[in-house]
Amino acid sequence: MTHTTTRQPLTRLHLTRLTLTLGALLGAATLTSAQARTLAEIKASGTLKIGTNAEFKPFTYFEGNTMKGFEYDLGNAIAKQMGVKAEWINQPFDNLLIGLNQNRFDLVISSHGITPERARAVDFSLPHYCSGGVILSRPGGPKTAADLKGKTVSTQVGTTYVDQIKKVTGDRNLRLFPNNAGALQALMSGRVDAMVNEKFYSLEALKLNGKKLQQGETLFQEKLGMAVAKGNKTLLGAVNASLKTVQANGTYAKISRSHFGQDVRCR
Ligand code: ARG
Repeated sequence: MTHTTTRQPLTRLHLTRLTLTLGALLGAATLTSAQARTLAEIKASGTLKIGTNAEFKPFTYFEGNTMKGFEYDLGNAIAKQMGVKAEWINQPFDNLLIGLNQNRFDLVISSHGITPERARAVDFSLPHYCSGGVILSRPGGPKTAADLKGKTVSTQVGTTYVDQIKKVTGDRNLRLFPNNAGALQALMSGRVDAMVNEKFYSLEALKLNGKKLQQGETLFQEKLGMAVAKGNKTLLGAVNASLKTVQANGTYAKISRSHFGQDVRCR
C-alpha cells in the first residue's frame, strides 16, 4: 500500500516530471490498453481491481487500516452487482490513470472530473455523481473568485482544480501538493491564502477545523466519473449497467445519504 505524506509544495523538477508523465499517459493509452482485462477475464478471476487515492474523505479514505467512503461503498456495490469481489489499491492521485493504462487495476474510482483531455487517455463511465470545486480560506480571507486575484492558492497536483485556480489567480500564485493533507496544512498554517477543493472534502475540513476555516463560493461544477482503460468496452458496459441498477434499486441513494445526508447523483 502506498501512502504519500509529503507536505511540501512541488518544485519545478516535479512539474517537469508531471508534464512528462502526462505525455506518457497519453502514449500509454494506445500502447497498453490491448492488455486490459476484459469483463470475462475479470469474472473468471472473481475480483475487480479498483484503484483509488484514499485520502479524500468522504469519498475514499482510511480509518486505521480500513478503507471507507462513498466511492468505496459504491465501488463495492458495483462489483457485487457484477458478481465479483472488489480489491482496492491505494495510489497517489496523479498515478491513477497511468496505472490504469498499465493494467495495474481494472477500474479507477477516485472522483475524476470527466474532462476532454482525460477522455483522450481513458474511457469514462456515466457520471457517478455531480459536485464542484469550492474556495476554502481562513476567516477574513478570500471568499470569491474575484477575491482570489493575486492571492496564493493551494491544491492537489493533477486535479481539475489546478486549471480553475490558474484562471483566477495565475500560474505564479498556484501552490501544488502531492496530496490534499499537504494543501490543507499550507492553508491552516498561513503559507497560502486559500485552497480550492471538492465541495464535500472541504465540508469535512470545515467540520474538523471549526472556526479556523471558512467556505467561500463554488468556483465551478463538474461531473465525476469512473475510468477504465481506453477501449475496454466490455468492462465499461458492465460498470454502466451496474451503476444504473444500483441507482434504480435504492442502493445508491442509501449509500449517498449515509455519507452526505443527500443524494449526489447528477440530475
Ligand atoms: N475532482 C477533482 C479532479 O477531477 C479532484 C479529485 C481528487 N480525488 C482524490 N481522490 N484525491 O481532478
